[in-house]
Amino acid sequence: MSSTAGQVIRCKAAVAWEAGKPLVIEEVEVAPPQKMEVRLKILFTSLCHTDVYFWEAKGQTPLFPRIFGHEAGGIVESVGEGVTDLQPGDHVLPVFTGECKECRHCKSEESNMCDLLRINTDRGVMIGDGKSRFSKDGQPIHHFLGTSTFSEYTVTHVGCLAKINPAAPLETVCIVSCGISTGLGATLNVAKPTKGSTVAVFGLGAVGLAAAEGARLAGASRIIGVDLNPSRFEEAKKFGVTEFVNPKDHDKPVQEVLAGMTDGGVDRSVECTGNVNAMISAFECVHDGWGVAVLVGVPNKDDAFKTHPVNVLNERTLKGTFFGNYKPRSDIPSVVEKYMNKELELEKFITHRVPFSEINKAFDYMLRGEGLRCIISMEN
Ligand SMILES: NC(=O)c1ccc[n+]([C@@H]2O[C@H](COP(=O)([O-])OP(=O)(O)OC[C@H]3O[C@@H](n4cnc5c(N)ncnc54)[C@H](O)[C@@H]3O)[C@@H](O)[C@H]2O)c1
Ligand SMILES: [Zn+2]
Ligand SMILES: [Zn+2]
Repeated sequence: MSSTAGQVIRCKAAVAWEAGKPLVIEEVEVAPPQKMEVRLKILFTSLCHTDVYFWEAKGQTPLFPRIFGHEAGGIVESVGEGVTDLQPGDHVLPVFTGECKECRHCKSEESNMCDLLRINTDRGVMIGDGKSRFSKDGQPIHHFLGTSTFSEYTVTHVGCLAKINPAAPLETVCIVSCGISTGLGATLNVAKPTKGSTVAVFGLGAVGLAAAEGARLAGASRIIGVDLNPSRFEEAKKFGVTEFVNPKDHDKPVQEVLAGMTDGGVDRSVECTGNVNAMISAFECVHDGWGVAVLVGVPNKDDAFKTHPVNVLNERTLKGTFFGNYKPRSDIPSVVEKYMNKELELEKFITHRVPFSEINKAFDYMLRGEGLRCIISMEN
């Protein structure tokens, strides 16, 4: 047992006090883990666009003060009552959607939507007792996605932690904890392109480029990247994207442009933008008869998806996925192994690194559409 087990830990956390305002590094108290919970020391974390949407709180429910962060790697510090499969020192990746291993979803081969631990963006407390484990001078601070990794220590439910190979470098594999697995799984587990097929990827951030990587691994012969930001195209070439379309360069809808390039439509499309119009285009650009579109981007609270029903009657399939349909505890250790045995390259997704004290720079990069993933080191 570590010397801090059972005690409140005082440590640094980046607190979002208000929507859209820079995070403030504060000294906070982190309570010990309760029943079925684990307290971990975060070593590396990165920023995913989902953090930015809820921090901006423009199209999402505002909940402040809050500690954001859900893509990270850490080491177990102590465990609460009932936790048997993790112990202090284990290397773990926290995941925003969990796996209780007991519910119908966890027992189904098709679903990763655990009844107990599925993603809940509006909950800011632990599910066990409805309370927060974070406070500052007695004031509770909300959790985010059950992970809150922008803190030197955090508490999660045991079902939201994937135990990984301790030899895997956390400064690199931390990105498997959200974006990379999400994109890769959206293609490999959900869109399932066949060898030689054509795949369109909407949004060429880390999630979209991981989806492109999945298409490459599946043997797609054409991978068409769609983005509004032309600076994305240079980077995307490293990911096997063969053609690029910027909707701004055309005066007809992008789905028509893609249909023209592909004799009627792409075989598969994966949407990784969060923009509802891109979601509709991603659906309408797949070929009738067999095309499958997969939505990954997180929409605004009030968005509505509108398409003519005949687009569906014409034998197109629309799907969606959280976390690429991976079950965090059962499947993520093997995604890390794919990196360890060099099947999956992760370094090319990491374009920036900053110390924890400069975490707001990671937000600036993402808001400016610069680079892919920015790794934040907790120990400078
Ligand atoms: N479903 C899940 O499990 C899951 C998990 C992680 C992230 N996400 C979501 O995936 C999306 C991508 O995340 P990211 O971290 O890669 O973000 P990112 O900001 O790095 O990349 C998004 C890209 O989409 C492009 N884009 C935006 N609007 C567009 C449009 N209308 N048409 C074409 N391109 C457009 C942007 O220019 C950008 O390059 C976000 O919506 C994020 O919330 C979902
Ligand atoms: Zn994410
Ligand atoms: Zn479950």
